[in-house]
Amino acid sequence: MSGPAKLCVSNQKGGVGKTTIAINVAGAISARGHDVLFVDLDPQGNATENLGLMDAYDDEPPTLFDCLTDPEHRETVADIVREHEEMDVIPSNIDMTAAEPELTLSRRSGEQLSLVLREVEDDYDYVIVDCPPNLGNLMDNALFATQNVLIPALAESTSKRAFELLFDHVDALEYDYEIDIHDRGVVVNRIDVRKTQAREMVEWINAAFDDVPVWQIRERADVQKALDAGVSLLEFNPECDMCEVFRDIAADLDEQFGIEDVEVQA
Ligand SMILES: Nc1ncnc2c1ncn2[C@@H]1O[C@H](COP(=O)(O)OP(=O)(O)OP(=O)(O)O)[C@@H](O)[C@H]1O
Ligand SMILES: [Mg+2]
Repeated sequence: MSGPAKLCVSNQKGGVGKTTIAINVAGAISARGHDVLFVDLDPQGNATENLGLMDAYDDEPPTLFDCLTDPEHRETVADIVREHEEMDVIPSNIDMTAAEPELTLSRRSGEQLSLVLREVEDDYDYVIVDCPPNLGNLMDNALFATQNVLIPALAESTSKRAFELLFDHVDALEYDYEIDIHDRGVVVNRIDVRKTQAREMVEWINAAFDDVPVWQIRERADVQKALDAGVSLLEFNPECDMCEVFRDIAADLDEQFGIEDVEVQA
């Protein structure tokens, strides 16, 4: 395969676990020996903070905002890539709050991230993009650049409409840009198995998505603690039972993208 596997973690619904799933899937992919570039496309900068790079969020320009909105700054993206112990990171920045309206004014408004990534992506096996919680220009850029989506969702009935809105949006984008966007799986997150509604929603999602993998992540204090510590769950507590699910996701993505095993280096 030429170029890295690219995947965005998207759901316009807020607080469903996009950032959490993106970081932990990226960590699990990295643990398999792959080189990962993580892109925090959310102006909130949660992933940037949860990867311990808060100083980058307050950096002076040029930042990701300039790379996305000014073609002359595109190649400076190589200078803003930060190193994390598990992955490389293109951090978000306070300036990204102005990206939505600015992109509306630009030509080829949905293609800018794709053009920016071209400058650096050849150094990586995977590019993972964490999306903001709305159906705007930034999300379009993530969907266009990766053309692969992983969808986190909560085990509650509000998720049904969230899926509908997301797929309507993806369909429109596929039509407008003449591309195919692949649904690589759904991660039902924060499951509390004691709740009947949660169990019913997991069943509903499994039935609705019978042609893509559906993974289940439970509510775990260690998931939050890992984010606070600036690393993935696999790095924070490899013994946590949810690590196995993130390892499964990473292995399945390797298979879906046709990526060969890398021997774990001694
Ligand atoms: N499996 C889990 N167990 C415990 N806490 C979790 C779990 N998943 C997510 N959380 C917590 O829920 C909160 C919201 O998660 P997260 O930030 O990943 O959602 P998001 O979809 O990225 O939000 P936004 O829409 O604002 O970008 C975080 O504080 C996170 O620590
Ligand atoms: Mg988030």
